[in-house]
Amino acid sequence: MTTATNITWHAGSVSLEERQKLLKQKGFTLWFTGLSASGKSTLATALEQTLLHSGINAYRLDGDNIRFGLNKNLGFGPEDRTENIRRISEVAKLFADATVIAITAFISPYVADRQSARQLHEAAGIPFIEVYADAPLDVVEQRDPKGLYKKAKAGEIKEFTGISAPYEAPENPEIHIKTHEVSVEEGVQSILNYLVKNGLVAADKLE
Ligand code: ADX
Repeated sequence: MTTATNITWHAGSVSLEERQKLLKQKGFTLWFTGLSASGKSTLATALEQTLLHSGINAYRLDGDNIRFGLNKNLGFGPEDRTENIRRISEVAKLFADATVIAITAFISPYVADRQSARQLHEAAGIPFIEVYADAPLDVVEQRDPKGLYKKAKAGEIKEFTGISAPYEAPENPEIHIKTHEVSVEEGVQSILNYLVKNGLVAADKLE
């Protein structure tokens, strides 16, 4: 792969702050992480729906879906997962920069990759909120909605997170949701509470 040279950054004439004021919304990234079947996509979907129904622009980027398109040339080895997360970090940052709430739902198993995503956002002055969808392995193995844990245990899927590939849990996520202990509604509510408390969403905008 060759990399581009002789390129110059071209700034727009509307600053991030001005854009936010004009569009009356703050953009940021809510970064869900957790094992497959931990509830990331379920929470992300419910949250996106709640925000949109309140007239707040939010857009979900989901691991499985993005692998049908943008990231269809990537597999599940460590290097491909890193590239998966790097691309999504960039895409989420662009959405957030456009004052959309970017909601990502990727296993994102490596601390270093999530840290890079955070740094990318922070360097651009865009808030990055890590949401840990936490459920123990025995719970997600029981849920197994796609039958993937069963296949992975039978050796039919290689490098499956939690079985034959690592998951490095976040130590200090901004939001920690134990999905086997709370309902989807309670999980969404705790995220909304965090957003209001931190001035990212106005309380009076929420339905
Ligand atoms: S990540 O590790 O690179 O962040 P991502 O979230 O994009 O993963 O994709 C995970 C989804 O791909 C899982 O929910 C599952 O449906 C599917 N999948 C297929 N193979 C694997 C695998 N080896 N490990 C984890 N998930 C897999």
